[in-house]
This record gives sequence, C-alpha cells and structure tokens, in this order.
Amino acid sequence: MLPAVQLTALSDLFDTEYAETHGRWNPDRPYGYSPADVHATISSGATVIAHVGFQRRSIDVGGHDVMVAGTGGVLVHPEWRGFGLGRRVMALAQRAMRDDTAVDFGYLGCREAVVAFYETCGWRRIHARESHVSISVAAETMTSDGGPILVYAAGGSGWPSGEIDLRGTPW
Ligand SMILES: CC(C)(COP(=O)(O)OP(=O)(O)OC[C@H]1O[C@@H](n2cnc3c(N)ncnc32)[C@H](O)[C@@H]1OP(=O)(O)O)[C@@H](O)C(=O)NCCC(=O)NCCS
Repeated sequence: MLPAVQLTALSDLFDTEYAETHGRWNPDRPYGYSPADVHATISSGATVIAHVGFQRRSIDVGGHDVMVAGTGGVLVHPEWRGFGLGRRVMALAQRAMRDDTAVDFGYLGCREAVVAFYETCGWRRIHARESHVSISVAAETMTSDGGPILVYAAGGSGWPSGEIDLRGTPW
C-alpha cells in the first residue's frame, strides 16, 4: 500500500493523461487492469513525473508456471517526454525485477506504436496466443493472437514456447 501522499501524486500524473478519456485513476483497478504491487517513480519536487508499475503473478505458459512481473502504468508526464525519463524509470523497475529472486520475466502487452520504446529498454517481443480475464466483464475470457507482447529476462532465460494464460486480468 502506497503512502497517501504518493497515492495523490500518482493520481495527479494518471489523471493528467487519462481522466478525460478514461475517468479517474483507481490504484486497485487502474482502468480495469491489474493493480501494481511495486511502483518505480521519478519525481520533480512533489510531482511524480514518471512511473512504471508491476505485479508479480504466476502465469501459465505452455503448461509451465512462470513467475512474471506484469508491467503496466508506464507513463511519463507529457511535459517531460523525450528526455530519457521513460528509459530511466523503466531501468528502476527492471532493477527491482532482477533483485526479486522469485521473478523470472517482466511481461507486458502494449500498442504497436510503443514497441520500439520497450525494445530500446531491453524488452523482447514474443509471439504467442494469450488469454486473460476481460478488463470490463470479469466472467469473460479474452483471447488475443496479434497484439504486441514483450518480455524482459529478469532472472529467467529462454521464454518457454506455447500458449499463455495470464490467470487474471492483464496489466
Ligand atoms: C512511451 C513513453 C513512456 C516514453 O517515455 P519518454 O520519457 O518520452 O522516453 P525516453 O525519452 O526515455 O526514450 C527512450 C527511447 O525510446 C524511444 N521512444 C520514446 N517514445 C517512443 C515511442 N512512443 N515510440 C517509439 N520509441 C519511443 C526514444 O526515441 C528513445 O530511444 P533512443 O534512446 O534510441 O533515442 C512516453 O512517451 C509516454 O508516457 N507516453 C504515453 C503513455 C504510453 O503510451 N505509455 C505506454 C503504454 S503501453
């Protein structure tokens, strides 16, 4: 649980970007996605200007359990983009993943437009069918085949082949 002052600063960052289109940020269910239990941030004074979050979860990949740091909430304040902060805050999160001996891989899904950003930060694109709980209807399972999935080798090496079941909502 984040201290209240940090929660407020993070809310401000997310609301600046998404309040108009997606409503207010809810740390327990950010826009329907899974919450983070680790938050990497960079601040300027009291203002959080960059964030990456992750949540540990054992997922199923081709019948094997893989402990991932499911990564989301990757956001740099609009006035601070293009100065290397995205890379820096991601490096903080990646260090936390490596330091956590339980974590095999970072894992995330994203838009095509930002794949290059993640690749410059050391993430690698994989191709697999992924199923997960819908972010809008909890009783529904969604399956996707083509959307970008990227992994980061934190402790593990060699992403296993096979279909992926996130065993919950995505990040
Ligand atoms: C994507 C985002 C986090 C990048 O942050 P940033 O601070 O501008 O990125 P950096 O300055 O650290 O850039 C690091 C590298 O990624 C590249 N990069 C940055 N934004 C990129 C983008 N949107 N697409 C592709 N490459 C990008 C940069 O060119 C740089 O590469 P280089 O070092 O080879 O020149 C930021 O643009 C953002 O918050 N966007 C809106 C939210 C979003 O789309 N988040 C991702 C959700 S999946």
